[in-house]
Amino acid sequence: MRMTDTEGKIYVAGHRGLVGSALMRALKRSGCEHRLCFTPHSETDLRDPQAVERFFEREKPAYVLLAAAKVGGIGANSRKPAEFIRDNLLIETNVIDAAYRHGVQKLLFLGSSCIYPRMAPQPIPESALLTGPLEPTNSAYALAKIAGIELCRSYRKQYGFNAISVMPTNLYGPGDNFDLEGGHVLPTLIRRFDEAKRKGLPSVTLWGTGRAIREFLHVDDMADACLFLMDHYDGDEPCNIGTGEEVTIADLAERIRKVVDTPCTILWDHSKPDGTPRKVVDCSKLLSLGFRVKLSLDEGLRSTYAWYDQHRDSLRGI
Ligand SMILES: NC(=O)c1ccc[n+]([C@@H]2O[C@H](COP(=O)([O-])OP(=O)(O)OC[C@H]3O[C@@H](n4cnc5c(N)ncnc54)[C@H](OP(=O)(O)O)[C@@H]3O)[C@@H](O)[C@H]2O)c1
Repeated sequence: MRMTDTEGKIYVAGHRGLVGSALMRALKRSGCEHRLCFTPHSETDLRDPQAVERFFEREKPAYVLLAAAKVGGIGANSRKPAEFIRDNLLIETNVIDAAYRHGVQKLLFLGSSCIYPRMAPQPIPESALLTGPLEPTNSAYALAKIAGIELCRSYRKQYGFNAISVMPTNLYGPGDNFDLEGGHVLPTLIRRFDEAKRKGLPSVTLWGTGRAIREFLHVDDMADACLFLMDHYDGDEPCNIGTGEEVTIADLAERIRKVVDTPCTILWDHSKPDGTPRKVVDCSKLLSLGFRVKLSLDEGLRSTYAWYDQHRDSLRGI
């Protein structure tokens, strides 16, 4: 039975986050608005098993999209590894176990491409998981997310619980974290160029050489892919979600400069690291199931900048 064609409540855990809010928009676009259920972090701390139990008892969801997680940049991950591993293990254990015990029909767990081994082959296939050492700066977070994937596999194997995992590539879009310290590269570039425009700065200096290759997926495409996989995928292995479109950081910076519409020059600080030379996911499985992304990078950048421009003064991290 397809989630989007049937009845029963759909619980979006983490509905206010970047991913969770995109899932809410996608469910509304799919005509499932009347089936949504959610609870704010302030009311239900998902680290607390009793709070999770009370929520499932009360709401009785039929489907669960688990996008609640403790998420942060390199700085936060390095400073607080204990919180990253503990909170994520608690959230995923509590929600997956309650979903199984309360008879949920299907659950989707959000993994991330950052939990693949540091030296994984490129583009990264799903089979690369657990084949090598992790990136040390976020290994506590990555191990917690890998445990979430293993929880889904194990509940499927032992109890026949229909739990799937997805591995999205770098995401961006409305609701992103534009903090210069904690944010990812794309929202940080938007903020840097926007500040250059508003302050009339002649140049912006960016880290590295700009030659590193990355992939960026609009969060609304990712949310559509998640709903598609809820309807069409029941596998034991996680499924990568990406665009197949590779871009150098220099190309990305230039596109953002044009979207923001500032004449400033881009300078590169070669003394700073580039990170992994190329990091993209292999999306053959998603493509073979029939899913295609809709938004081009330029369209996504334009709408994300428009959103940033409107919400600049009330954003997190600013
Ligand atoms: N962002 C990316 O580029 C990316 C890429 C691939 C995968 N993912 C995955 O997608 C998932 C969500 O990421 P995101 O970027 O959407 O993060 P986010 O914007 O920080 O959202 C996380 C959500 O989880 C909630 N939450 C955190 N701790 C909670 C707790 N103890 N109890 C209840 N709710 C809690 C947060 O609520 P409050 O804000 O109220 O605390 C927030 O709504 C993560 O598993 C991440 O690994 C993200």
